[in-house]
Amino acid sequence: ALITPTSLTEYRALPRALLSVSRDTGDIEWIEDDVAASELQDALARHGAVSENVDFVELKLGEFLIPGFVDTHIHAPQVPNLGSGQEHELLDWLAEVTFPMEARFADADFAKRAYSSVIKRTLDYGSTTCCYYGTLHLEGTKILADVIHSYGQRAFVGKCNMDRNSPEYYVEPSADASLAATRALIAHIQALPPPTGSGTAAEPLVRPILTPRFAISCTGELLDGLGKLAAEDAGLRIQTHISENAAEIVFTKQLFPPGSLPAPPPLPDAATTKAGGKVANGKARETTYAGVYDAYGLLRHNTVLAHAVHLEEEEIAIIQARRAGISHCPTSNFNLRSGCARIGMLLDRGLKVGLGTDVSGGFSPSILTAVQHASMCSKVVALHTESTPPDSRFTDRQLPIATLFYLATLGGAEVCDLQARIGSLAPGKAFDALVVSVRSETGNPAIWGMDTAEELGMGLRDDGRTRTKTEEEELAGMLEKFLFCGDDRNVRRVYVQGRLAGGKESRV
Ligand code: GUN
Ligand code: FE
Repeated sequence: ALITPTSLTEYRALPRALLSVSRDTGDIEWIEDDVAASELQDALARHGAVSENVDFVELKLGEFLIPGFVDTHIHAPQVPNLGSGQEHELLDWLAEVTFPMEARFADADFAKRAYSSVIKRTLDYGSTTCCYYGTLHLEGTKILADVIHSYGQRAFVGKCNMDRNSPEYYVEPSADASLAATRALIAHIQALPPPTGSGTAAEPLVRPILTPRFAISCTGELLDGLGKLAAEDAGLRIQTHISENAAEIVFTKQLFPPGSLPAPPPLPDAATTKAGGKVANGKARETTYAGVYDAYGLLRHNTVLAHAVHLEEEEIAIIQARRAGISHCPTSNFNLRSGCARIGMLLDRGLKVGLGTDVSGGFSPSILTAVQHASMCSKVVALHTESTPPDSRFTDRQLPIATLFYLATLGGAEVCDLQARIGSLAPGKAFDALVVSVRSETGNPAIWGMDTAEELGMGLRDDGRTRTKTEEEELAGMLEKFLFCGDDRNVRRVYVQGRLAGGKESRV
């Protein structure tokens, strides 16, 4: 069985698919939608495959294949802090809990140990691609990239840029030093050898990403240098935080008063009337958070903006015009009392959205938790709305299951500009996938183990035999159970670029 997203509101559920992965490239070669066991040889022959040359992985009833999860926002060095300091808001939490832990990553041995455990965890929870923040340390973040590379996870890795408003024990000495270290990290990551086990000159799995921590921790000089670095390479991703917390926004506006910012790069023609007009007319008003990043050329199609809880109208227009993406981190936004992002509204405005765990603002390294809290967040937004606009598709409504599934996979891929390679199961894409099980042997007590056709049918007619659901509906039911009650026990195998990289059955 195979389930893969096709749009924000739809997915395909195929009870008897046959999917072929190239041993050489790790890409998906072809998918046959419906193949009975007795037709297997015929189906292979149609594609010129000989069964002697094929390694078969057969799934049982209650098991299914989905694309790997994309965690668009996670701080690797904060994993040791999961579940610590749960009573703070953002700025206190950074000062009291987070910066002290991150500072420990100056120690290479500590970094090695911690990062190995982090990467194993995120893989086992089913995140085949992650956008990682390291610390401000060059050496420690090189270690992070090396560990990810050795585990075979797909990832973007950035070194935090922070040259002000940070404690004296955890701050970079100057903008120049921060930029030099950033260049050195990029060079290190780009020099990593090709992933092992893939026959062709495969694309790299680990890539660099510019990581100005947030506007507060960066001088204008540093943001300017990063914008220039970005301009040298249009493919270089950028990640940062935006409009997460009320006090953070106030401070940001104080740091970058009107008139302090350079003019943003010109907008593409089509976008000018939509956003440019508003932006241009906004001169006399206070700056916006998004406007700060935009002024330095840091908002573009491959920028990942985490949180976006309190965006102003003008910022939504800028982000849309620049085609930047949003990393929705609901677990963190509840946990640090930041607020509920209006994701449905942002989707209706055409913004790209993916999910992020934001470890350890969020207390779980699992995208499943982010899915659950994204659902809750949309329900809170809906509850607090006096009247939902009647013609809205998503605005102020609870997010459908198909949308949650999309955000966790293809939406995340779009946000990190990898939608051509990952996010869904389709010929030509990388085989980044999970074998999920909702069978009782997984030992997850929250899921009523579904091992037989009768149990899977759940609703039987009065005669006790006739099934009331189609197989597709049963699969949909399994997906929903997994998304809401699943955990790492239900993630049996995790494949990245065709290689088994994690999951409960990866080490037996
Ligand atoms: N803003 C700046 N740094 C951080 C961080 O580490 N976590 C979160 N959630 N927000 C931030
Ligand atoms: Fe964060």
